[in-house]
Amino acid sequence: MEYREILENARKTMAPNCRVCRECNGIACRGEIPGTGGKGTGSSFTHSYEYLASIKIHMDLLYTDRGQDTSCSFFDKTFAGPVFAAPISGLSNNYNGYLNEKTYAEALVPGTIAAGCAAFTGDGAADYYFTDPLTAVAAAGGAAVPTIKPWDREKVLEKIHLAEQAGAMALCMDIDSAGLPLLAAAGKPVCSKDVDELKAILASTKLPFLLKGIMTPEGARKAVETGAYGIVVSNHGGRVLDHTPAPAEMLPAIRDAVGTRVKIFVDGAIRTGVDVFKALALGADAVLIGRPYVVAACGGGAEGVTVYTQKVLAELRDVMKMTGCATLSDITRDKITWNR
Ligand SMILES: Cc1cc2nc3c(=O)[nH]c(=O)nc-3n(C[C@H](O)[C@H](O)[C@H](O)COP(=O)(O)O)c2cc1C
Repeated sequence: MEYREILENARKTMAPNCRVCRECNGIACRGEIPGTGGKGTGSSFTHSYEYLASIKIHMDLLYTDRGQDTSCSFFDKTFAGPVFAAPISGLSNNYNGYLNEKTYAEALVPGTIAAGCAAFTGDGAADYYFTDPLTAVAAAGGAAVPTIKPWDREKVLEKIHLAEQAGAMALCMDIDSAGLPLLAAAGKPVCSKDVDELKAILASTKLPFLLKGIMTPEGARKAVETGAYGIVVSNHGGRVLDHTPAPAEMLPAIRDAVGTRVKIFVDGAIRTGVDVFKALALGADAVLIGRPYVVAACGGGAEGVTVYTQKVLAELRDVMKMTGCATLSDITRDKITWNR
């Protein structure tokens, strides 16, 4: 299946909620929640896209080509490349219901694994947003990362237990969910969590734990104190607070603050392997991609997800070739020019 066909199919299956724009930049869907847009003016989404686009890459062809190796290791597992599907939930609420939580996970989880990568799964206003995808996680031998909202501690521990039973390889919490309009509208209590509470939650499981929604060096330092395996530098696709910086924009300062004490994942309008290269150069170990995976799944099911992932990895290898990078560790800040 060609990526072009996937987009054509998706245009038919996703209307009217997602227009499958040529550039998935948050402009057409500005402010659409429920829907796929960013909160308020939508600027946290549109700026993330524009910021990445403003970064320039330095060509270097004066080297001996030893090939381009995108392999990497997380959670004691090896992946074909540093690309993960971000957790997306509320398929029937935010999209048109063509896929639901279960059928999306059934495309996403095996589809990413077939390309040598993996997916995060989501959580939300109804409990089945979290539990339905766990069947696909278990069927894949646990090779996915269930993501839990910052509920009260008892509910979080219950969900950790369910994810452990599904054999999940790691866990994540989107601590920024306190800003989600849909949870507020449903009267669901999610709120901020301090370091002590997070320490207690993390101590309840042996699984590697990521904290998603870190946007400052200070937040990243606190995440290190909790004992987290990693952080996801993220503004939740612009859906929790208007007028934030781009996650990519915050990466260099966050990397400088925490060094290599935690793995750093980043998301926010990453669309291509070119964007992955830029994110890695700014200091990320890996990226998460959100909305384009829903498009890939609606346009081509599990195969669409595999084709899209392979496309992103091929683009990353192409940029590495054009910049003299043989491995991911060669992708350093001096390979790009960016606005500080
Ligand atoms: C419709 C929708 C639902 C989402 N649901 C979740 C979720 O359940 N948990 C979570 O951590 N993030 C959720 N996110 C945020 C994504 O995981 C990710 O941070 C964001 O979409 C990345 O930006 P991108 O879509 O531009 O790649 C959601 C985003 C969208 C658009």
